[in-house]
Amino acid sequence: MIHIPKSEYGRRRKALMAQMEPNSIAILPAAAVAIRNRDVEHVYRQDSDFQYLSGFPEPQAVLVLMPGRVHGEYILFCRERNAERELWDGLRAGQEGAIRDFGADDAFPITDIDDILPGLIEGRDRVYSAMGSNPEFDRHLMEWINVIRSKANLGAQPPNEFVALDHLLHDMRLYKSAAEVKVMREAARISAQAHVRAMQACRAGLHEFSLEAELDYEFRKGGAKMPAYGSIVAAGRNSCILHYQQNDAVLKDGDLVLIDAGCEIDCYASDITRTFPVSGKYSAEQKAIYELVLAAQEAAFAEIAPNKHWNQAHEATVRVITAGLVKLGLLQGDIDELIAGEAYKAFYMHRAGHWLGMDVHDVGEYKVGGEWRVLEVGMALTVEPGIYIAPDNQNVAKKWRGIGVRIEDDVVVTKTGCEVLTGGVPKTVAEIEALMAAARTRAA
Ligand code: GLY
Ligand code: MN
Ligand code: MN
Repeated sequence: MIHIPKSEYGRRRKALMAQMEPNSIAILPAAAVAIRNRDVEHVYRQDSDFQYLSGFPEPQAVLVLMPGRVHGEYILFCRERNAERELWDGLRAGQEGAIRDFGADDAFPITDIDDILPGLIEGRDRVYSAMGSNPEFDRHLMEWINVIRSKANLGAQPPNEFVALDHLLHDMRLYKSAAEVKVMREAARISAQAHVRAMQACRAGLHEFSLEAELDYEFRKGGAKMPAYGSIVAAGRNSCILHYQQNDAVLKDGDLVLIDAGCEIDCYASDITRTFPVSGKYSAEQKAIYELVLAAQEAAFAEIAPNKHWNQAHEATVRVITAGLVKLGLLQGDIDELIAGEAYKAFYMHRAGHWLGMDVHDVGEYKVGGEWRVLEVGMALTVEPGIYIAPDNQNVAKKWRGIGVRIEDDVVVTKTGCEVLTGGVPKTVAEIEALMAAARTRAA
């Protein structure tokens, strides 16, 4: 299994501590276990920030970084070993494991945190935390601070400054290391394979969920614990619902099916969309829209390189799509005026992409000082133009209605442009039709 090496977590902690103010402390909780219903829990997924700094996979843990602390800068509070609980729920690292396997300098039982953490905070001037994202933890933090305040008459010094950790940490997360790109390539490879499998399995009469099952099969077989987000398998007019997740309609000849799905490997997401014909052959209208979206995506790729800003790729897709819609007779007027008036938004209502990483819509600022961010080597993003012609759009000829197409790939900015991570799944009309035809011949 490809994963982030342990040494990288140590490098990340050091890099963060190097940016923290002197005499400060950072405190970050693990994700809570989420209840699905009664005694059933959701599959556990570590908090991305916590994972980024620790690689520690357990709930009920708190990470503490204290730059310059003589007795160790990295402290982990975590569950104690417990033979009976481990018999039921699985192994725990315990404090020994936290030190031995996860690089902690010091580790304490999570049950002792109220007694120990105020003593660690005391005397530090500034606390970095993920303020606002976990109200229960924020409340605990204030309780620990109040313990120190209550001892001020004994000389205890509570911190005076509280700083959101997000700014430093999320900027770090935006720049992917070689190891991160390697993991993202693997997630992309497995996801591409899943899309290929779904195209090969597609037949009229199956359901959207039949194709979802093909995706899930490849995800799990590739070692992914789960999809990076709820898979969208949207046939016919459902393809015009941007976040469709019902996935229970029947696949009909003559319809397109849009699949937006990607798996997660070691907490890194992939995010791929392909749109293909249920029958294996695009109709003339479907092909025209598809090739327009593809041209928009190609134009966007050309605008992704160091020193180009974040919005250039989006602007390129808007121009190609607007001009193409005019050519097809779906929009009428002057292209520049249509762009200025955002006429394309009736058909293309989302942006051309987003940052991609541990979160599918990853962290990182899109603007800096009010200006679009300039792309740099190691930034990862999606490129996902689309055209969605509403089934009830009375302004266009009937033959266009209900067609929804999105094409989405994942890229990493390189010195000279960008590397497409998701090239393993066919994309041109000819390639997709050939793949589907070959699968049908084999099955016949
Ligand atoms: N799958 C979510 C997105 O494409 O942004
Ligand atoms: Mn996306
Ligand atoms: Mn997507």
